[in-house]
Amino acid sequence: MNSILRKTIVTTGLTGIVLSAAAQKNDNIINVNAAKITSTIQPTMWGVFFEDINMGADGGLYAELVKNRSFEFDTPLMGWKMNGGKVKEGDFLVLNRKAADSVNPRFLRVNVHDAQRAGDMSITNEGFRGMGIKKGVDYNFSVLYSLQKTGVILHVELIDSTGKIVGSTSLTPNDNSEGWHRAEASFAADATVMKAKMRLWFEGNGVIDLDMISLFPSDTWKGRKGGLRADMVQLLADMKPGFIRFPGGCIVEGRDLSQRYQWKKTIGPVEDRQLSINRWNTEFAHRLTPDYYQTFGLGFYEYFQLAEDIGASPLPILNAGMACQFNTAELVPVSQIDPYVQDALDLIEFANGDANTRWGKVRAEMGHPAPFNLKMMGIGNENWGPQYLERLKIFTKAIKDKYPDILLVNSSGTDPNGERFQLLNDSLRKWKADIIDEHYYRRPEWFFQNAKRYDSYDPNGSKVFAGEYAAQSDKTVSVDNKNNWLTALSEAAFMTGLERNADVVYMASYAPLFAHIDAWQWTPDLIWVNNLQAYGTTDYQVQKLYALHKGTNGISILQNGEEIAGKDSLYATAAIDKNTNELIIKLVNAQDKPQVKQIQVDGKKLAANGKLITLQSDDLNAMNSFENPMNVSPKEDALAIKGKQINLTLKPYSFTIVKVKML
Ligand code: AHR
Repeated sequence: MNSILRKTIVTTGLTGIVLSAAAQKNDNIINVNAAKITSTIQPTMWGVFFEDINMGADGGLYAELVKNRSFEFDTPLMGWKMNGGKVKEGDFLVLNRKAADSVNPRFLRVNVHDAQRAGDMSITNEGFRGMGIKKGVDYNFSVLYSLQKTGVILHVELIDSTGKIVGSTSLTPNDNSEGWHRAEASFAADATVMKAKMRLWFEGNGVIDLDMISLFPSDTWKGRKGGLRADMVQLLADMKPGFIRFPGGCIVEGRDLSQRYQWKKTIGPVEDRQLSINRWNTEFAHRLTPDYYQTFGLGFYEYFQLAEDIGASPLPILNAGMACQFNTAELVPVSQIDPYVQDALDLIEFANGDANTRWGKVRAEMGHPAPFNLKMMGIGNENWGPQYLERLKIFTKAIKDKYPDILLVNSSGTDPNGERFQLLNDSLRKWKADIIDEHYYRRPEWFFQNAKRYDSYDPNGSKVFAGEYAAQSDKTVSVDNKNNWLTALSEAAFMTGLERNADVVYMASYAPLFAHIDAWQWTPDLIWVNNLQAYGTTDYQVQKLYALHKGTNGISILQNGEEIAGKDSLYATAAIDKNTNELIIKLVNAQDKPQVKQIQVDGKKLAANGKLITLQSDDLNAMNSFENPMNVSPKEDALAIKGKQINLTLKPYSFTIVKVKML
């Protein structure tokens, strides 16, 4: 640990102010050699990790506003209320047609009689912690219906907390042929409401069956019907991530094997995607979320499409035949693992196969004839032990035999050290695994101390995917963890070590990605949302700066002939971008005093003007918020350069990027 940081921790628990030691002679000179290439930075280097946790998908990214739209939650009417002066016993019935449809068995039968106004017979959906409604935006209502007796008019209304109607439409389902039919209507909202509800009231006399009662905003990402929340996707697109990992996380494993993530159940028409409980529903007794389910409206097709939209390489993670080892730790016997392996092989065909292949055809029929260009896949999330190795071996053989070019990501367990890590890391390196996934949820001081973690890794060995990491201001799974400037600064310092070792570290992603302010289970998270807004945390700003100013090759940057990785709380990495012919230097000053530095650049001539991008706060507790989303955000200044010398004053507690054209 560097002395400044140690002193800070001891005296103030990392939140106070500590004076820096006097600068050593010559310590203010930093030497960069732009001609001395030290690594190749992968295009995938900085990516994002998506998991349906904290209402990240249902209630979050997936823009559906109706909760429990198909009555398939364990409590079939959860989220719904039946009302009305004319309602008699038996007028609303939940029917189960499991023998005919085991995937979406339940629906609602409504016996409508003598109904003329909203107060007579209605059902109201509360949404996911309410429905975020925006003035002037059109809303698309749809429902599957089957008429048992004609004569029903449906009225759809959005209502605010005072009962005021802020948008409405009506429709008359009139197809009385056998089976299910779709009715749709669009209408504009005339007010912005954070927590609206949707009331559906019935007029007339008749009997109608209802299923898949749905409401989407029309302003989804790319305007896709039934699509994703545009503001949330935009925050991802703004990062230009190199990859997107999905669908998790522990959600891949499930509490038990029956609840594991099965991608084949997440494609095709949404009404045919079998709902499953979300494992985060019951995971934490202190953060129970009884209404958390996975509808899979955001399924594997949509994940691939999202990856393509934001220019990220898709990285699906598949179940390795093991349920979460923190929960049931169920294992599929090796003798019965074939279907799991087949799922992996079929996924590659789904993503890359042409439209004549079985699974390529499914993709094409869903609207994407061109392949999704899948290049890598993870087998297992946080799995560990010899049981994992035994299963992984079978997957690896089958996949490499058929698809030798697909890179496989393997788990190294839950922690970046300890016996479990050692067993997997040693074994996987002996096997010459393609990529090993390391996870670290640790306090900020760990991140500062570990900026050199990868300096000792063999650049010719297996590559590292820092697949889940986040500095914890308190401790892992504590509800008191904050996304503050200290957590972000410590990650920025640590990430200098990832970039400096880009020949070892091929990919990295902060985790988790999204959290809904009213429905989260896990904190800290990269992006926080409510029903109407989304903002990037301090940690997001760091991730974004790294991703946007990545470069193509690492180059030498030294102080007194040594790597800059913590001495005097200074951290640095340098790269060039061969595409734009730029020099990019990243520096983190983690002390409470400015540091004056002269950077001598050899190997290339520099333009006379460059850019200085600074992310800084004097307050280590500073946070971004819905009220002040850009409280800690980058500032850009012009930078004059004298020949080969760049003079800088690094602000206290700052992350600074220098960008200069090379001549
Ligand atoms: O990111 C939250 C959880 O942390 C992930 O689901 C799991 O992989 C890790 O333990």
